[in-house]
Amino acid sequence: MSPDTVTLALSKGRIFDETLPLLRAAGIEVLEDPQTSRKLILPTNRPDVRVVLVRATDVPTYVEHGGADLGVCGKDTLIEHDAAWGGAARAGLYRPLDLGIARCRMSVAVPADFDYARAVRQGARLRVATKYVAIAREFFASKGVHVDLIKLYGSMELAPLTGLADAIVDLVSTGNTLKANRLVEVERIMDISSQLVVRPTALKVQGARIRPIIDAFREAVRARG
Ligand code: PRP
Ligand code: MG
Repeated sequence: MSPDTVTLALSKGRIFDETLPLLRAAGIEVLEDPQTSRKLILPTNRPDVRVVLVRATDVPTYVEHGGADLGVCGKDTLIEHDAAWGGAARAGLYRPLDLGIARCRMSVAVPADFDYARAVRQGARLRVATKYVAIAREFFASKGVHVDLIKLYGSMELAPLTGLADAIVDLVSTGNTLKANRLVEVERIMDISSQLVVRPTALKVQGARIRPIIDAFREAVRARG
C-alpha cells in the first residue's frame, strides 16, 4: 500500500450511505456508486484518498493488518472481532470516534407465543441462534440464563420458525423483519452505532492526512448533534 494514499474501508449499504455525508464534510467525494459499479476500490476527488468495499465483519481485520488505514464498522462487529481474539480491545485498532450512524439495537426476540419470561424464571435452558455469539454469551451469562448458542450467518429470524432455536439475538432497526416473521423483541441488549477505527501505525506515518479526516468527522458528528 502506498504511503501516499489513505485507504478507508467501508461496507456496502447503510454504513457506506451514512458515511458519505461525513466524508463530504471532510471535503471528500466518492466518485463511484457501489450500487452501479462492481469495483471494490473506489476513487475519490482526492488523489490521496480511496475507499475499499469489504464485508462489514472484515473492516476491523483490514484496518488492523494494513489493507486499509481507517474504517467504519458497527459496535457489534467490533465486539465480536475483539472476542474472536481473546476478548480485550485490540491494540492494533484505535477507536477515536463514535460516528452515531447506522443506529440500531441488539435484541433478543422470540416467537409471539413463546413465554420467554416464564422460561427464564423457570431456569429453562434456551437454544439461541445468532451471528453474535460473543454478545449473546456475555448477555445471558450476566443474567444467569443457561443457553445453547447456535451460530448462524444470516436470516436469524428463520431459526425459531423452523424449530432450530427458541430465541434469536440479532440487530433490530425498524422492527419490520421481526414483525414480518411474527417475532417479538423481549430484551434490548445494547444500542449499536458505527465507530471509526484507525490503525495506530497509519496514524503515526500518515497523521498529516488522517488527522484532518478524523477532525472533520468529529466536527460533522458534533454539528449534527
Ligand atoms: C438485518 C438484521 C435483521 C434486520 C433488521 O438483517 O439481521 O434481520 O436487518 O432490520 P429491521 O428491524 O429494519 O427489519 P440483514 O437484512 O442485514 O440480513 P442478514 O441478517 O441475513 O445478514
Ligand atoms: Mg437479518
